[in-house]
Amino acid sequence: MKLHWLIVAGVAVAAAFPTVLVVSMALSSRDVGPVMIAGCVGLILSAALSIYIARRVAMPLRKFDQAAMSIARGKFGVQVEVPPGTELTDLANTFNYMSAQIEAYDHETQRLYEDIEAGYLETMVALANSIDSKDSYTRGHSQRVAEMAVEIGRELKLTERELKQLRYGGILHDIGKIGIVEAILLKKSSLTDDEMKVMRQHPSIGDAIIQPVSFLKEIRAAVRCHHEWWNGTGYPDGLKGEKIPFIARVVSVADTWDACTTTRPYSRALPEEQALAVMEKLRGTHLDPSILDAFLKVIEKKRTAGLQSVKVAV
Ligand SMILES: [Fe+2]
Repeated sequence: MKLHWLIVAGVAVAAAFPTVLVVSMALSSRDVGPVMIAGCVGLILSAALSIYIARRVAMPLRKFDQAAMSIARGKFGVQVEVPPGTELTDLANTFNYMSAQIEAYDHETQRLYEDIEAGYLETMVALANSIDSKDSYTRGHSQRVAEMAVEIGRELKLTERELKQLRYGGILHDIGKIGIVEAILLKKSSLTDDEMKVMRQHPSIGDAIIQPVSFLKEIRAAVRCHHEWWNGTGYPDGLKGEKIPFIARVVSVADTWDACTTTRPYSRALPEEQALAVMEKLRGTHLDPSILDAFLKVIEKKRTAGLQSVKVAV
């Protein structure tokens, strides 16, 4: 039985004794009227009193219950307000202190987690930069891919969390190249078939590198699948169409654009129009058409803003 009903019942039973007494007196008296009226008034007053007392005790307890439930759901710091000077005031003060402490611990834990995440990311970025810096032609490549991937993501109205994943995915997409021997990685001429096989291992090597880092688990797809092609002829897994993780399809468009607009050992940077023609040629074969459309809108907006220029690595 709920506490407030228990209190109502208790007070009602307590009030029943004088009421029974009054009714007995009325029945044995000649002048029944006034005694009966006094009895009824007593009964009503006792009922009102019992309800008032029950509410006064039960309502604050309901607040405690709701506040505890809020904390259980992760809304830390919630406070309970009870009238001062009641039996529950001390309990409310203790509860509110506990809630505020939990909120403070949560903020501290969150801050530590963000520090750890930032530390991991800085390490990964340093590794990615070390790959880019090995080759003067690709210096800054990972950063540019990350920036373009985020711009495409914004065009696609992705959430801030998804944009953050795109940024990390862009920065880390070629991290696996750290496991490719320099004789192949920095070769100035075309790769042989065997060398190409080795080079094509970099997505799975990168995946294995970041696999132990739990907060990067959603980035793994960008690292492993950024060379998968829309028509299913890419590597390492030959995924096709929407089977290719979304983040990898976005990074793939940004990566292809940077490859087209950057001078490499084996090809010069293309002028913007030619680079766009190449991107269009890859529509539906290498690149996801809908993401390519979003990319083209980004380029159009840059043109409108007068910001677009072909970047050439030095
Ligand atoms: Fe790559």
